Order: sequence, then C-alpha cells, then structure tokens
Amino acid sequence: MFDLTKFSLKDKVAIVTGGSRGIGQGIAFGFAKFGAKVAVTSRKAEDLEATAAEIRACGGEALVVPAHIGKIDEINKVIGKVLDRYGRIDILVNNAGASPAMGSVLDCDERLWDTVMNLNMKGLYFMSQAAARVMKNQGGGKIINISSVNGFKPEPFVSVYSISKAGVRMITKAFAAELAPYNIQVNTIAPGPVNTKMMDSHWWNLPPEEAKKAKAALEEALPMHRIGYPDDITGAAVYLASDASAYTTGTEIVIDGAYLLSNVPFVEKY
Ligand SMILES: NC(=O)c1ccc[n+]([C@@H]2O[C@H](COP(=O)([O-])OP(=O)(O)OC[C@H]3O[C@@H](n4cnc5c(N)ncnc54)[C@H](OP(=O)(O)O)[C@@H]3O)[C@@H](O)[C@H]2O)c1
Repeated sequence: MFDLTKFSLKDKVAIVTGGSRGIGQGIAFGFAKFGAKVAVTSRKAEDLEATAAEIRACGGEALVVPAHIGKIDEINKVIGKVLDRYGRIDILVNNAGASPAMGSVLDCDERLWDTVMNLNMKGLYFMSQAAARVMKNQGGGKIINISSVNGFKPEPFVSVYSISKAGVRMITKAFAAELAPYNIQVNTIAPGPVNTKMMDSHWWNLPPEEAKKAKAALEEALPMHRIGYPDDITGAAVYLASDASAYTTGTEIVIDGAYLLSNVPFVEKY
C-alpha cells in the first residue's frame, strides 16, 4: 500500500529563494507545515523576518538569509549560511524572479536584459549548481525551478521575461539529465496568472482604479474566471520536494487554470 509519509518533509532542509512574499512565501509556509526546516532568502531582511516569524508561530523552523540571487558571491553566502546552520540541503526552490519593466522588443536595452537574465537565469543556474554539489555529496536532493506560462507562450511586450522563463525550462532538463545518477530530481513548475505583487505590476502604468478594472477584466476573461493564489502552487511544490516524486525528474507541471488553452492576453498593450 502507498505510504502516505512519502509526502512528509520532516527534518528536510529547504531553501526557497524569493521566499519573502507571493508564490515563494506560500511554498515556504507549505514546506514548514509538512515538517521542513526552511531557509528563506530575498533582498529585504524585514520581509524575510516577517515570513520566518509566521513559520515559527506555527511551530516551524526558519532561517533568514538576505541575498541578491543575481550575484554569485551572494549565492555562495546563502549556501554557506544554510550549511553552517543545518549541515545539509535537501530541497532548493528557485523561485526568485523579476519582470521589472515591460515594453516592445524594439525598446529593450542592455540594462533590462541583464537585470532579468541575471536573476531569472544566471542566478537560478548557479544556485542550482551550488546546491547540487552539496546534494551529490549527500546522496540526493530536489531542485524545483519556477518558470511561467510565458516560458511556453511569449507574451507581447514581455519578451525578455518570456525568454528567460523558456530558459528556466531548459535549465531544468539539462540539470535533470546530468544529475539523475546522483538521485537528484530537478523539475519545473510553470504558473499562470497568480495574485502577487508581480501580477499587479502588469498594470504599473495605469491609475489604481483603471488597474483594478483591468485586473477584473482579466479575471473574467480567464477560463476559470479567476486569477490563482500562491496556495494553488504550493501543493505541487510539496509533491516535487517529497519522496513521493522519487521517479519524477526533468519534467514540468503547468498550474494555470487552463490559461495556455485560452487566447487571453495578460495585458492588451503598453
Ligand atoms: N505571479 C504570477 O502571475 C507568476 C506567473 C508565472 C510565474 N511566476 C514566477 O513565480 C516566481 C515568484 O513570483 P511572484 O509572483 O511571487 O513575485 P513577487 O511577489 O514579486 O515575489 C518575488 C520574490 O522574489 C524576491 N526577489 C526579487 N528580486 C530578487 C533578487 N534580485 N534576489 C533575491 N530575491 C529577489 C522578492 O523579494 P525582494 O524584492 O525583497 O528581493 C520576492 O520575495 C517568479 O519566478 C515569477 O516569475 C509568477
């Protein structure tokens, strides 16, 4: 009979990048509830402290590690601090991501390209490499990369982000193929629209009332007539982090309320 404890994360050590809010925070809370010790990392210490306090208030264990994941020396700092505290890394969720500005492919400049790529692809790659070296020596581990539906279907005016998220899907496959012999499973979760600060940034150029209307119109147009919530993503992350997914690697779970089956654009124009 299937052993339900396979879904347990008891005493496993997890790192969640971008764990201070939104999807990453939801995953950090979920991991803590399933028994993991969770290191949360992002740039703003006070937001991380608030997340850690909430985890501890529910009886969980949390470590706060402020860092910019687009910078290799800061990535090494994260890995060092987690190893100092817990001595191992069982799970890495590469969730930190940015889409700082949007606009036509005709207007993208080098600074925008570097900002998005340094975090969404370079940081994710080297974070995975650093954690995988530890996991290999331990005898296994789990890496979960947060891509996006935009990694499947480019969004007009969101080109660099879309390209970076397609790259995330390939990083997953490249790492999964090479690391399978070391019992390291690497998978992608590709969310559709989810209610977070990043989601709201789609309407940064509109006055608040118009932004509210545009968001409501998007909700109405979506196949399920709603935008997702971070908790809609957490269950898949728990599965991919747990022993229940021991034979699942190099693949991707799209969680989008059928967004990719529709013709709904996130935004009409910029
Ligand atoms: N929301 C959606 O609709 C949606 C859809 C598809 C995919 N996604 C993906 O899901 C992931 C999470 O997105 P979200 O919507 O939860 O976004 P969010 O609410 O904006 O949260 C982003 C998180 O990443 C952190 N972060 C940003 N830049 C960072 C950096 N340079 N170094 C370290 N941490 C950094 C943020 O904290 P600080 O700013 O304090 O650093 C925050 O914790 C992203 O990879 C995003 O692309 C989101």
